[in-house]
This record gives sequence, C-alpha cells and structure tokens, in this order.
Amino acid sequence: MPETALPAHFSRDPDGGLMIEQVEARLVAERFGTPTYVYSRAAIEAAFTSLTDAFGERAHRICYAVKANSNIGILHLLARLGAGFDIVSFGELARVQAAGGDPAKVVFSGVGKSAEEIRGALAAGIGCLNVESEAELHRIADIAGEMDTKAPISLRVNPDVDARTHPYISTGLKDNKFGVAIDEALPLYEWAHAQPALEIIGIDCHIGSQLTDVSPFSAAAERVMALTHQLAERGIRLKHLDLGGGLGIRYTDESPPAAADWVEAITSVVDADPLGRELPIWIEPGRFLVGPAGAMLTRVEYLKPGSHKSFAIVDAAMNDLMRPALYGSDMAIVPAGRGTGERHPGTWEIVGPICETGDFLGHEREMTLGEDDLLTVLGAGAYGFSMASNYNTRPRAAEILIDGTNCHEIRQREPLESLWALEKLPPAGD
Ligand code: LLP
Repeated sequence: MPETALPAHFSRDPDGGLMIEQVEARLVAERFGTPTYVYSRAAIEAAFTSLTDAFGERAHRICYAVKANSNIGILHLLARLGAGFDIVSFGELARVQAAGGDPAKVVFSGVGKSAEEIRGALAAGIGCLNVESEAELHRIADIAGEMDTKAPISLRVNPDVDARTHPYISTGLKDNKFGVAIDEALPLYEWAHAQPALEIIGIDCHIGSQLTDVSPFSAAAERVMALTHQLAERGIRLKHLDLGGGLGIRYTDESPPAAADWVEAITSVVDADPLGRELPIWIEPGRFLVGPAGAMLTRVEYLKPGSHKSFAIVDAAMNDLMRPALYGSDMAIVPAGRGTGERHPGTWEIVGPICETGDFLGHEREMTLGEDDLLTVLGAGAYGFSMASNYNTRPRAAEILIDGTNCHEIRQREPLESLWALEKLPPAGD
C-alpha cells in the first residue's frame, strides 16, 4: 500500500520513524508517554498565514473556533498571530482570556446561551453575540437593559444551503437547530433595531464543517448579501459580515480546497456588491487551522490475529479520540516508530482498550505491526483532545506543542486522582 501523504511539517527520518518538525515522535513518546497529542507550531502558523495572505489588504478578521482545540497554549499562539475567537460557552471565553486573547475580538455563537453566560460575556466586553433565536434576542435585550449597557449583536441566519457534509456536522439546513431561518430574520432585525439595549453590528452564518467543496460558501454568501440589502433599505447598516467556518481538511483521500479558494469563494460574491465591499468579512475557521497540525501518538499493546478479523489493540481509545466512533470518520493511521515486538503484516482493526465494540480508531488497515510499535493518527489536532472524556476512568492524554527542536508540554497527562478529586463519599449510613 502506498504510504499516506504526511501533512506539512511532518516527515520521516532515515529509519522510517515519524518526525514532527525536528523532533522524533519516538522521543516524545518516551518522554511523555502515550497516548499523547502533538502539535506543530509551524503548521498552525502556516495555516493562519495562508488565510491572512488570501485576504491580503481586504478588511477581515479570523475568529478561531475555540471548540476545535481549546488548549490555552494553542489559543495563546493564535492570539499572538492576531486572531479573534469564536466561542460557544462562557468557559471558552474564560480560556481565551486565560490565554491572553482580547474579549473585544470574540464572537459568541451557540443556540443555548444561559442568562449567566450572556451577563458574563457582556461584563467581559464581548465583541459580538451571535444570536440564534428570537427568544435569545429578547433575553439579551433584557439582560443588557438591566446592566445598563448596549449588547453588540449579530443574527445567525440559517441560509438553507446544503453543505454536503456528514449530517451530524451540517448546520445550515432548515432542519437544523441552528440560527434563524433567513426569511424570518428581517422582522427580528427590525425589532432589535428599535431596542435601546441592543446594537446591531453584523450578520452571521455557519453552514457546516469539513466542507470539501466551496460552492456552498458562495451560495450562503449570496443569501447573506441579499438580506444585507433588505436591511440597508430599512436603515439598518451592518458593520461586518461573519461567514462562519467549515473549511475541510484532508484526512485520507479528500482533496479539500486551499485557503485561497475558500476566501475567493466568499470575496467573489461579497466584493462584487458595492455594499459588501465596504464591510469587513469575519470568518470562524477551526479545523483548518489546527487539524492537520496535530497528531495523536499511541502504542500497540497487543496483537490479536484471527481467522476472521485481526485486532491491534493500542493504548488510545474512543475517549481520547472520539471522531471514528462518533461519526465513523476515516482518519489516517501511520507508523511512527518500531517497537520491540516481532512484526506481522496484516489487515488490522485498530482498537482501544475500552469495553465497547464501537471503540475503534480505524478499520481494515493494511500494515505491518508489532507489539510496542508506535502509531500516529494524523489530522487529530482539531476535535481530538477537545472532545476527549474520562470514560472508563482513563486520564486524558498529554498535549505537546512542538516548536522546531523543542517540545513544550502544554497539558500534562491527567493525574489519576484528579479524576475523582471532586467526588465525595456519602455519609456513612446504617
Ligand atoms: N463556527 C460555528 C458557529 C461552528 O458551529 C463551528 C463548528 C465552527 C465555526 C468551526 O467549524 P470548522 O471550521 O472547525 O469546521 N466535532 C465535529 C465538528 C463539529 C463542528 C461544530 N461546529 C468533528 O469532529 O468533525
């Protein structure tokens, strides 16, 4: 089988071991144990720069979607590059602040913002609340009124565009729970316009994630522009257009568009319009910025060959990386360093130690494997650690940021006792 192409900043050393920038995966595994997430700083920076370069002089803001990877080390890196942030909870805002990010450059999305979250975001000086329903709009107006402030808002409109991606991560169809149907947005904007406690600053949409075709982005931008005109006719002038995230990456054999193609798909629509040309474009990429920059290292514990199926049981599981179990996602798994065991060619089910049949990282992988071999799941920088859990009382993995020849431990492996540190024995009863 041809070797899977490695993402930028990942390479092979002469012995076939995996390198992340100038660091051998084998050394990371020896020093920090496995499973461990590794991220290439250069890869994150290059992805960010590819977007800023594509916009060039055109006014824009890149609001990194924190949910993709919320480690404060990564957020800090992106804040220093000038990123704003897209958040979906007060917890994510607190992380952005802990990482040195500016709340004024943060947009707050999400269908279920609690009153406490709205209050906290306004008190912190949030840049924009992306409002997802009429009920939320009323709640924000009430809270901002009580706080004697003006809430900066944008309506997240649902443009009813098919993103043609996995149904669980498609968000812009009228069947989805997200946003306000685009043809129902006008009266809400008019209502908001009349509220002293609300300041309309923009319009927002996000149609889905892992899009590998740019045409839905153009279709969404067209619908957003049409509404922007209707608003302008009613004296409602926006200050930005937020066109969401969703740009796909290569996991196995996808051919995702380049950053420049994505930006072009949006700007070709917006800049063809005199009203659009005046407005800064905000985008909310998550996966594109951090996905290809990250990988998860795991070690083969046991080989269990069988006449029907052969299993390679590794030390990472669905709690560490949920995407394969949750979405059936196909993620590339490549050798990262030879272990001490005898090696066997085969077609392997790569599975974890968790007591569930759904606990797999990859199906039918043709590889030569031995016990103690080091493997790497590629493209795991986004929605990897951030979706990890402690199921089966498994401490979450360590996270290491690689920078040239340096390894920075940006999150240590969870100490076991911390897993029940907040639990208490009930009083002794009789
Ligand atoms: N903005 C909003 C409002 C979002 O809901 C999302 C992702 C993004 C931006 C960033 O999308 P991205 O550029 O990363 O595609 N756990 C799933 C992905 C869920 C995405 C949810 N929303 C996965 O592992 O594929």
